[in-house]
Amino acid sequence: MVPKKIVVGVTGASGAPYAVRVVQLLIEYGAQVHLAVSTMGRRLLFEESNIKTLCAEQFKVDAQFLVIHNDNDLGSSIASGSFLHNGMIIVPCSSNSVGAIASGLTNTLVQRAAAVTIKENRQLVLAHRETPISAIDVENLTKLSRAGVTIAPLSPGFYMQPKTIDDLVDFMAGKLVDLVGIHHDLPVRWC
Ligand SMILES: Cc1cc2nc3c(=O)[nH]c(=O)nc-3n(C[C@H](O)[C@H](O)[C@H](O)COP(=O)(O)O)c2cc1C
Repeated sequence: MVPKKIVVGVTGASGAPYAVRVVQLLIEYGAQVHLAVSTMGRRLLFEESNIKTLCAEQFKVDAQFLVIHNDNDLGSSIASGSFLHNGMIIVPCSSNSVGAIASGLTNTLVQRAAAVTIKENRQLVLAHRETPISAIDVENLTKLSRAGVTIAPLSPGFYMQPKTIDDLVDFMAGKLVDLVGIHHDLPVRWC
């Protein structure tokens, strides 16, 4: 069976453990992941998850299912609408990236891949993280929502009575993976 292809963008907002877990879950449940990380996203992966270099080993996944793209390479496959994929998640998604994508800017591969996902009417999920958020963020998020983008703020629920930080991360990561149609059996559902 041909694995589903999911594009994952990582930008410079707090929440690197969510990004790592989303990549792991997508691959564990049968997807191939195309990963692009912004410059500040790389810094956050280091600061929050001790990831020094972008490679499968650091994400603790099978290398054959992880394709890593350079965020400066706007000629990369995921920059093109002809690259068929099953959805894109940006996790975590900074307000900077929200603003750029809402404005149609495509200066980085994460931004270009997001713009292409929108124009091709594919599923784009933004796991935005900032608090509090300004009226500018609200307007940008509203604009994106109206364009069909799914806004999924990084705000885990407590109704499953999480005991550990890993439980909280799994709750949110599982939700994001659901949103691109990758089905998992993590114990994170109310019913
Ligand atoms: C430790 C650290 C934490 C940050 N957390 C956030 C955050 O939660 N949300 C946010 O919007 N920006 C956050 N920023 C600021 C962004 O990294 C900054 O706006 C950057 O321009 C984002 O660039 P990018 O969208 O290309 O990754 C943080 C920066 C640092 C250094």
